[in-house]
Amino acid sequence: MQRAILLTGGAGFIGSNFVHMLLEQRPDWRLVNLDALTYAGNLQNLAAAEGNPAHVFVKGSITSAEEVDRALDACGDLPISVVHMAAESHVDRSIQSGLPFVDTNVLGTQVLLDRCRARGVERFVHVSTDEVYGSLGPEGFFTEETPLAPNSPYSASKAGSDLLVRAAHHTHGFPALITRCSNNYGPWQFPEKLIPLMIANASEDKQLPIYGDGMQVRDWLYVQDHCEAILAVLERGEVGEVYNIGGHNEYPNLAIVRMILEALGKPESLMVTVADRPGHDRRYAIDAGKIERELGWTPRFTFEQALPMTIAWYQSQPEWLQGLRSGAYREYYERQYGPQGQG
Ligand code: NAD
Ligand code: TYD
Repeated sequence: MQRAILLTGGAGFIGSNFVHMLLEQRPDWRLVNLDALTYAGNLQNLAAAEGNPAHVFVKGSITSAEEVDRALDACGDLPISVVHMAAESHVDRSIQSGLPFVDTNVLGTQVLLDRCRARGVERFVHVSTDEVYGSLGPEGFFTEETPLAPNSPYSASKAGSDLLVRAAHHTHGFPALITRCSNNYGPWQFPEKLIPLMIANASEDKQLPIYGDGMQVRDWLYVQDHCEAILAVLERGEVGEVYNIGGHNEYPNLAIVRMILEALGKPESLMVTVADRPGHDRRYAIDAGKIERELGWTPRFTFEQALPMTIAWYQSQPEWLQGLRSGAYREYYERQYGPQGQG
């Protein structure tokens, strides 16, 4: 083993994709995966890694110094790099209740920073989001210099963590790097986010809730491309720098939902307009020129390739999906959409 990676949040959507990529592409690294297994964390996402001695799962929260230390201890004597993804990640949940977002995203990030600094980790990649920049008008792109102007409790808590990481570097010379990526899609995304929710509902002939006029724009990136960008920043990025990551792939929500309906052979009558999200950001779009120029990263997948792959993946996972779409999920869904979204 050459080095250890402490990954936080590795049982979630992007985290589990990152685990599978790293085990395949860097088989001589020890991967210690610290995850609290909240509603969004799922060990089933990691089934293919079971029995692989390079992957060590540690159940614990980044808000606990002891649990973070336990994960750092599992790295042994190897030089440690950290990839920090653990977060509360869903905007709608943050509107229902902001406190869990402050707890994990802000407090947890500071606990993690303190313990990692005490341990002398070699590098710390903080996985932030383009949502820290706020909302764009119809023109223009977010660059790394765009001022932070978060609008939701989720993005405000991510901006808080982003700035704490920046401060650790500025004040203590802590070897931190920050990535800010656009919306991801792909396997193992929890079916509360737009693309998996629409695939799951349409497959079951349930209504597809469209917030407001459905003309909000997101810049979609296949999750594997995001994972490869994080690895490029981890290995080749410059300490203290921020890297935007995006797919040059903007679509309004209505267009995405129509593509999903068409791929599944379902009628547009399943779409139903529901109340708009309060404070809804209108448009996100990333200028990823810096990471392309400086680290040579570009996305490998087009939307035309990867959306059908994603739909096929969800269709091949009915049990995974059903397992998640019961119990606490149903209560969340009812709170979020009410009877009108039930279909
Ligand atoms: P996710 O909600 O699917 O997964 C989050 C993971 O973090 C889960 O496994 C959960 O159990 C774990 N977790 C939550 N609180 C924890 C705590 N206190 N301690 C330890 N683990 C905890 O999220 P995701 O979509 O995979 O996003 C991962 C990261 O990437 C987040 O930081 C998010 O802000 C960022 N990001 C996501 C996107 C996107 O489109 N999904 C885009 C840009 C950035
Ligand atoms: P989401 O996947 O929650 O990501 P984010 O808000 O972080 O960008 O939502 C993507 C877009 O889809 C956003 O504009 C809100 C919209 N949306 C709906 O119209 N209906 C839904 O049921 C959901 C979950 C999202």
